[in-house]
Amino acid sequence: MKHLIFNWKMNPQTLSSSLRLFDSYILYLSKNKIKSWKIIVAPPFVFLDQVSKILKKYPKLRNKVFLASQNSFWREKGAFTGEISPLMLKKIGVKYVILGHSERRKYFFEDSEIIAKKITALKKENLIPIICWGEEKRNEKPEKYLKDILKNIPSLKEILLAYEPIWAIGTGNPISREEAENKNKIAKKTISLFRNKFKKVHYLYGGSINAKDISIYLNSNIIDGFLVGSASLKTKEVLKIFEIINNGKN
Ligand code: PGA
Repeated sequence: MKHLIFNWKMNPQTLSSSLRLFDSYILYLSKNKIKSWKIIVAPPFVFLDQVSKILKKYPKLRNKVFLASQNSFWREKGAFTGEISPLMLKKIGVKYVILGHSERRKYFFEDSEIIAKKITALKKENLIPIICWGEEKRNEKPEKYLKDILKNIPSLKEILLAYEPIWAIGTGNPISREEAENKNKIAKKTISLFRNKFKKVHYLYGGSINAKDISIYLNSNIIDGFLVGSASLKTKEVLKIFEIINNGKN
């Protein structure tokens, strides 16, 4: 099963535009069966509940479309002003949590220790982590960060590793297929150090993915999904991406 994740980040600005955007995804997905792909949408926290209510009206999409949050905290409840717990997220229908995104690392100083704590807290609620990793500058080696996270989390049934080179995020220039594959091979090698600790691992690429370029990575035997940022806010782009993966073009 492949994964297509849409990270809306801190967009759109109103509930009504969020629901409109989500509706446009759902309209396509309820009419077109995209085989072998799971679609995961990550709206801002404040819109998750309403988006979840819409999704529940489409029982046929139950195993096709899922919700992710863009962050979560490592404790279940208590005096943690401004935080949201994995349990709260599960209760409103969230299934995946994006953790360690480079913007969280940059603006909120999250490091591998914090991210590992957050991932650990997901286990109790059976939420699946989408772990972002990737280097800031092209010639850096980001695998130590990944290894540090993996060694500090418990065994998990399923994880998604999204390789996101920071130098490609938001630039409009995705990296070459070869480069994305090589980095995902490194992730695979890193995972192999942990033997059977992680049952199912999916290797994704993210960084300026759009309808124009996504096909260069399709049918790769290592990249089995994508994390889409800015293109996820443009209905036309999203629908084109759906069409491309649906037709299995490359
Ligand atoms: P982008 O964002 O597609 O806008 O580059 C990707 C991401 O930050 O996850």
